[in-house]
Amino acid sequence: MMNTVMKQPVSRGQVILAAKDLVKIYGSSQNPTRALDGASLEIRNGELLVILGYSGSGKTTLLNMLGGMDKPTSGSIAFRGREISGMNEKERTRYRKEHIGFVFQNFNLIPELTALENVELTADKKEDPRIAAHMLELVDLADKKDAYPAQLSGGQQQRVSIARALAKRPELLLCDEPTGALDSETGRQILIRLEDLVRAHGKTVVIVTHTREVSRMADRTVIIRNGKIIQEEINGQIVSAREITW
Ligand SMILES: Nc1ncnc2c1ncn2[C@@H]1O[C@H](COP(=O)(O)OP(=O)(O)OP(=O)(O)O)[C@@H](O)[C@H]1O
Ligand SMILES: [Mg+2]
Repeated sequence: MMNTVMKQPVSRGQVILAAKDLVKIYGSSQNPTRALDGASLEIRNGELLVILGYSGSGKTTLLNMLGGMDKPTSGSIAFRGREISGMNEKERTRYRKEHIGFVFQNFNLIPELTALENVELTADKKEDPRIAAHMLELVDLADKKDAYPAQLSGGQQQRVSIARALAKRPELLLCDEPTGALDSETGRQILIRLEDLVRAHGKTVVIVTHTREVSRMADRTVIIRNGKIIQEEINGQIVSAREITW
């Protein structure tokens, strides 16, 4: 039987990932942290969605659930109609591998591998054997290809992590503070690159950030507060709001 979600073409604007009433509780029952508290959101094909929220609001937790890195305590997550929240570890790994590109807030590079080798790990070499090298060029790090993560600055490591996510040519790219370790000019270049993926290549990109600035280029921005999505904006206009405003 089919264990994976088929890569059927989905038209632009169609919902590809729908999360409903997500709750994530960390810690023991004596001392629980409710990192997500009923978060619901939809991600549409071909959009650039920004999830904006203060530190500790649940952004990384939400992205981890959407990308199948972890399981919610309750609630549902459907990728193209297929429920992923109940998958076991092996199935989730497969889901991630087949559909998701992830830019981690803490980069998650493998210390024993060079920059190029880190990117090659996920690269889709069938389509282009030089893809890893190309992606490093794209983030302006061709000259650091043989450097190990410990020999790179935080911003350079972040760019390797972005190159690694892109080299896989994922359908859905989830980015956790992709410009957090970058100076504003390098950050701007990276955002332009991510926007180009959406506009010119029809990819779906989700960016999590605490910086209002980033939402300027978004098709849609949702605001997360205390583990809930409280507001949605399109072109800077609030289209739906719950409880409190930003
Ligand atoms: N593994 C964990 N164990 C216990 N508590 C956790 C864990 N991960 C996150 N939390 C808690 O869950 C809440 C949400 O954390 P999360 O990392 O999702 O926030 P965030 O919005 O990504 O913050 P930041 O902008 O600082 O990255 C916080 O209160 C945090 O302390
Ligand atoms: Mg975070």
